[in-house]
Amino acid sequence: MDGVPRPHSRPDNERVCAGQTGEGERATRRRTAGRPYRCRKRQTPPVLGGEWKIFINNEWHPSESGRLFATHNPATGAQICEIEEGDKEDVDKAVEAAKAAFQRGSPWRQMDGSSRGRLLHKLADLVERDRVTLATLETMDTGKPFLQAFFIDLEGCIKTLRYYAGWADKIHGKALPVDDEFVCFTKHEPIGICGAIIPWNFPLLMLTWKVAPALCCGNTIVLKPAEQTPLTALYMGALVKEAGFPPGVVNIVPGFGPTAGAAISSHMDVDKVAFTGSTEVGKLIKEAAAKSNLKRVTLELGGKNPCIVYADADLDWAVDATQQGAFFNQGQCCTAAARIFVEECIYDEFIKRSVERAKRQVIGDPFDVKTAQGPQINQDQFDKIMELIDSGKREGAILEYGGSAIQDRGLFIQPTIFSGVGDHMRIAKEEIFGPVQCILKFRTQEEVITRANNTEYGLVAAVFTKSMDKALSTASALQSGTVWVNCYNALHVQTPFGGYKMSGNGRELGDYALAEYCEVKTVTMKLTQKSH
Ligand code: NAI
Ligand code: MG
Repeated sequence: MDGVPRPHSRPDNERVCAGQTGEGERATRRRTAGRPYRCRKRQTPPVLGGEWKIFINNEWHPSESGRLFATHNPATGAQICEIEEGDKEDVDKAVEAAKAAFQRGSPWRQMDGSSRGRLLHKLADLVERDRVTLATLETMDTGKPFLQAFFIDLEGCIKTLRYYAGWADKIHGKALPVDDEFVCFTKHEPIGICGAIIPWNFPLLMLTWKVAPALCCGNTIVLKPAEQTPLTALYMGALVKEAGFPPGVVNIVPGFGPTAGAAISSHMDVDKVAFTGSTEVGKLIKEAAAKSNLKRVTLELGGKNPCIVYADADLDWAVDATQQGAFFNQGQCCTAAARIFVEECIYDEFIKRSVERAKRQVIGDPFDVKTAQGPQINQDQFDKIMELIDSGKREGAILEYGGSAIQDRGLFIQPTIFSGVGDHMRIAKEEIFGPVQCILKFRTQEEVITRANNTEYGLVAAVFTKSMDKALSTASALQSGTVWVNCYNALHVQTPFGGYKMSGNGRELGDYALAEYCEVKTVTMKLTQKSH
């Protein structure tokens, strides 16, 4: 476990420089930590000018309440910086700005689709320019390995912006043949003010999955990043301004869920809310929408994703892909490979090879290029995972590897493998969101499909086999928004992503996401003569 940083071992290095010119006097006065900030050029977001504030109307604002909150580096426990804490009053201001930007006749409403596309491409250019800074901020705020932030999160962010930039002048309805003397066509129009509430596991990527299609269709946005990871969202605010988006088109209110988040989901002037996070909060958001203005809601929630490994699969490949699926991003993925069903005759060998692979997992400093696994995001998540690991031990699963925290190393948890997992056990039913792989045994295809579907979730699933028949029949039978065959976490911006059952409503990505950010208007014209 060499190289695992100890909590608080290097706090000064973890502080983001607040800008060469110093911070606002007000923020300095209220800052609790008395230590001066040390400038580290690589980590200094130049375009922010040291402002970790609320982004409304292309300007940086202090919070109405005067409160600040801190964000921490989970790898060391060190505070990175403090941020203005948005609440209902700040959300109200942001919604006002988004409303004004959406007014008929505003620069944004008058802008051609092709110009919106150019702005999105410009934003992608700026993200490419600042890719190292954004990946650095993401790693500091989340604890995810830097190389993964750089090559996966940032790559996905740039591709998503460019993909929707391309759609911006291709949003159109249909001409519809109807009975009698009428001409009918549909128009796809922006919904209006779109709220976005995003989680901490992929902060920048989840932001882009919501912001890019919303802007492509001509909406305006009020976004709340997760309280654990506000930095890349605020940095994106600065890039949105630099790209030339008109004021009020994108507004970013950092803050907490029950305050700022709830203010967005219950706001009478927010027309749609897109959420990624826990199923529990997803329900609260739907409830708030129902009790306010029946705003449109899209939800991307939890998963307890089954992987089915048939005896004829390429074993090494299946071991590799399923474990990568279980441990990627410290297991903090809605797509985590959560229940790995292995056919009886290869079960023992699969476990043996999985344990060998887990032993090679390099855990440590997220900035070390060798690191594959960093810390969990915070103490709450750490405690939840450890409690679920204990429940697995108590309920009789066989602990093949790991199962403990890494001693004295803060929020790091050993990669953990359980075999002999029963369908009734909590580790087989609840979302763990940690580096825990659960292996289950099956005998027949019919049996495994029934067991795989026996969950309240239905986000993703995977099948490993060389038989095309088995692959396709299993893929058809699984109740799941995505089925991967002989691969895992193979996400593409061109393909829709979302869940069956309690994994959510609606789809992100691909052209399917455009429907989630448009209203459809039917225009019917009466003719005096037959049109056909
Ligand atoms: P959460 O669902 O509370 O947080 C996600 C976002 O929702 C954050 O921005 C948060 O501020 C906001 N939020 C919280 N309460 C809200 C409310 N009442 N109204 C509006 N917005 C609200 O998730 P949390 O507590 O951080 O993690 C708990 C569990 O949720 C995890 O262990 C994991 O199982 C699941 N989760 C799933 C994610 C996914 O990608 N589907 C992402 C994050 C968490
Ligand atoms: Mg943080």
